[in-house]
Amino acid sequence: FSKDLMKKYNIPTAKYEVFTNSEDAIKYVKEQNTYPAVIKADGLALGKGVILAENEKEAVEAIHSMIDDKQFGESSSTIVVEEYLTGPEVSVLSFTDGKTVVPMISSMDHKRALDGDKGLNTGGMGTVAPNPYYTEDIAKECMEKIFLPTINAMNAEGRTFEGCLYFGLMLTPNGPKVIEYNCRFGDPETQVVLPMLEGDLCEIFEAIYEHRLADVKIGWKSGYCTCVVMASGGYPVKYKKGIEMFGMDDKGQVDGAFIYHAGTKYEDGKFYTNGGRVLGVTCNAYTLQGALDKSYEAVSKIKFEGEHFRKDIGQKALKALPKDSLDLEYKQDMEDYIEENGVYLRQ
Ligand code: GLY
Repeated sequence: FSKDLMKKYNIPTAKYEVFTNSEDAIKYVKEQNTYPAVIKADGLALGKGVILAENEKEAVEAIHSMIDDKQFGESSSTIVVEEYLTGPEVSVLSFTDGKTVVPMISSMDHKRALDGDKGLNTGGMGTVAPNPYYTEDIAKECMEKIFLPTINAMNAEGRTFEGCLYFGLMLTPNGPKVIEYNCRFGDPETQVVLPMLEGDLCEIFEAIYEHRLADVKIGWKSGYCTCVVMASGGYPVKYKKGIEMFGMDDKGQVDGAFIYHAGTKYEDGKFYTNGGRVLGVTCNAYTLQGALDKSYEAVSKIKFEGEHFRKDIGQKALKALPKDSLDLEYKQDMEDYIEENGVYLRQ
């Protein structure tokens, strides 16, 4: 649905075609002749339904195994063959009442299970907000070419969207493109976006409900928020539940951080793991490094058997920041820097 919508309304996304017949799909891949080619099962496949074919042979094999051999059952009886895009990924959640769209502060997810973006895809192993790759100019371009056109497209289709719309974007050398939409907040993006909100979320929801979002002032704090996800060993494949956790107080918190409980259970005064992604350890600071240091310090205080977390959350974001901003430790220094250099660090 979303790919068709984007095509119809000229919203930038990876070029694609949908197939239910392997011969047609193979013909298309051969005509395009650009590799890697992205071959996706249309249905749900536990995050495994995407194959990056490096050459024609791999593409043909992938198409046969998905459509003809039903590698993912009915989920791969329809496939999408898509152009391969490169560039930093950005998540932009937005509020919309169907007329006005207000992007929230940008964020960066880390979707792979292991450091260096290796391992399997997960729901997200950590986030930082704002995302330093998402500059003011890019934000403007996204508003003109993606956010407003999407809201208008939904109206034109008679399916006005109201609520929180998540734009999963890639900043390609040919401009920002949509990877996916989610009709919900992101996880773990929300953990770092909402603490940066200046204002009352309930008032925003009421304004959306009453179609007067344009009248509400929505602001964002300066500085950064970071979230490091602590997962159960084996996630996202097979993992144990019911493992006792140590290091948190009786509210499940650690000093200096805010800990979201994603998969825990509280019994007889003790916390136990109860899911794949267990905790989101979240901290604010005026610098990205400061927030990361606080998140990792809190993570180091929490222990459970088999715990797994990525040690490189925020490293890519740090590389995108101006070098002279990295040593700013104090609120005043950061505010002076922002004053002198525009809102770059805040956007
Ligand atoms: N973190 C990605 C998502 O919420 O879909």
